[in-house]
Amino acid sequence: MVELTGSKKIKTAVFISGTGSNLKNLIRFSKLKKSPISINLIISNNNKAKGLKFSKIYKIKKKIFNLKNHLNEKKLLLLLEKNKINLVCLAGFMKILSKNFIKNFKGKILNIHPSLLPKFKGLNTHERVIRNNEKYSGCTVHFVNSKLDSGKIILKKKVKINKNDTPKILKKKILAQEHKLYPKAILKIFSL
Ligand code: GRF
Repeated sequence: MVELTGSKKIKTAVFISGTGSNLKNLIRFSKLKKSPISINLIISNNNKAKGLKFSKIYKIKKKIFNLKNHLNEKKLLLLLEKNKINLVCLAGFMKILSKNFIKNFKGKILNIHPSLLPKFKGLNTHERVIRNNEKYSGCTVHFVNSKLDSGKIILKKKVKINKNDTPKILKKKILAQEHKLYPKAILKIFSL
């Protein structure tokens, strides 16, 4: 549990690669009085990410990094430092961060994954869950360590799978729960 001293919110960067519905949701959460975080930076590895539009809508600085190369990751670390970022929230970020990056932000990177971890790590989660005839799936917020989708779990939410659910339907159902779970997990680890 991290106790905040004073009334300053934790400067947070959200990393995205796609739609950014979790980003939008985190921004809205951050504006609530009870929120321990402020969103100060949006980072994307994809210049076509739809979620980048929230930078303009909410007037939050954005930066695109092609993280295929090592040097860019160094630049990213410098940018985070310059903006006094103290928490990184991954939200549909499709790139694996290097060990060095994770070491620099040890215990300060969160991720949301659309399954009940440790089950169904990795990509195409909903397809695999349905193919496996699971009765339940859900979402998990966890700390990020150097192994994919394997860091300490903060919170999970179970979602029932109906007989006729397709991966698309399941994705939608789980996404609605993700939007509740991410802020809840943030409130759980930081108390004002
Ligand atoms: C979410 O399902 C999240 O769990 C996964 O990628 C999806 C991102 O959705 N990691 P969005 O871009 O936040 O709408």
